[in-house]
Amino acid sequence: MSRHFRHLLSPGRIGAMELRNRIFMTPMGSNLADEDGITGERLRAYYVERAKGGAALITMGSVSIGYPDGSGNWRNEAISDERHIPGVRALADALHAHGAKLAIQLQHAGLVAMNDMLAGRPLWTPSIPLVGKDSGDMMEGFLEDEYRIFTAPMAAMGEIRFQVMTADDIKALIAMFARAAERAVRAGVDAIELHAGHGYLISSFLSPLSNRRDDDYGGPIENRARLLCEIIRAVKATVGPDVPVWPRLDSQHFLIDGGITVEDAAATARLAEAAGADAIHVSADGHPGRGATYSTGHATDIPNNFVAAAARIKAGLGIPVICPGRIEPEDADRFIAAGKLDFVTMGRKLLADPHLPRKLAEGQREAVRPCIYCYTCISQIFFSRPVKCAVNPETGFELERTLPRTAAPKHVAVIG
Ligand SMILES: Cc1cc2nc3c(=O)[nH]c(=O)nc-3n(C[C@H](O)[C@H](O)[C@H](O)COP(=O)(O)O)c2cc1C
Ligand code: SF4
Repeated sequence: MSRHFRHLLSPGRIGAMELRNRIFMTPMGSNLADEDGITGERLRAYYVERAKGGAALITMGSVSIGYPDGSGNWRNEAISDERHIPGVRALADALHAHGAKLAIQLQHAGLVAMNDMLAGRPLWTPSIPLVGKDSGDMMEGFLEDEYRIFTAPMAAMGEIRFQVMTADDIKALIAMFARAAERAVRAGVDAIELHAGHGYLISSFLSPLSNRRDDDYGGPIENRARLLCEIIRAVKATVGPDVPVWPRLDSQHFLIDGGITVEDAAATARLAEAAGADAIHVSADGHPGRGATYSTGHATDIPNNFVAAAARIKAGLGIPVICPGRIEPEDADRFIAAGKLDFVTMGRKLLADPHLPRKLAEGQREAVRPCIYCYTCISQIFFSRPVKCAVNPETGFELERTLPRTAAPKHVAVIG
């Protein structure tokens, strides 16, 4: 093993799951699933490349528990039915053959369930959303054709309707998560991540901005976190002690007042641990209508933007903390050594170079192709297109594009 990156490349453990190093592929919706939420060959090839590249764990991003109900994206991944199991099983087998573990991020998109909006189904929500005075500046940042592509699906939408969740709806939701987790484990998935951030259904209960209930699920943080804790308990009871389960939480809300604070997130993490969570994966969110939310919140362009919050959350816990957010390998190694976090999730770095972990282990740090933080990848998801990367033409096209090494290398200057 390389003498460098000793902490980042050292084996780790979450609950009973052993991991070959501390680098995880973060959950990223890719729009690479086949029709109907099926994990097909294209999606498998994309994930397998990251397993070959040495990540310890690959996380399937935003996987619907009720597809198409409650799903957010075009070509959303799903584990809501028996028909989804064979594709996930083939993926789990392929990743295991390359020494990686597989986690699945279970998601109900709630207030941002685009497929519900398009089909005219009411959106599940803790309370009727307040119509804010400040709807944000997101649309102002688009070029003309981007605006047209982004808003095209909205033309097909009727009036948006809401379903304030009743006690029976809450029970049904908890059962959906537990059944999806059971299917995932039957398909060979090693760990369950519960998406409890980014404005999706669980996070809309956690946030005081969207949760104005006056029953046991609203008010103080113990109540706002109740749904998450009930889901953790139900999923743990279903999958048993050997399968780690953890939530992905917003560690804070940026660019908006009255949202989730680091103190809230630390309290939620402690409640989640008491409910049986085996780890906490931090993230962040912000004003849903402001463009800068997406470059400050979960897909931040600020290096190490969530590390202070991760460390603050970790200080109150006895379980590992997983942290993303533009963390360079040198920084990740230092943060793990200092006990600020235990595992680092990498997203865009592994879109740009899936073989980053292997190259570090082989002492080839300088051979890693860097992400340039241009947001091409994430804009594809906004435009209902498959993920692609500005610096790696193979990303998302693993089945049809390979770049063979030339026999006659040249230096080429790209001007302009
Ligand atoms: C293309 C793309 C899709 C994403 N989709 C998801 C998702 O489905 N679920 C999620 O929790 N986060 C999602 N994220 C956020 C990432 O998980 C991660 O928090 C973010 O990219 C910051 O980490 P990084 O700097 O290593 O890329 C997405 C990010 C990108 C770039
Ligand atoms: S598209 Fe741009 S931001 Fe996304 S991974 Fe590639 S280089 Fe990084």
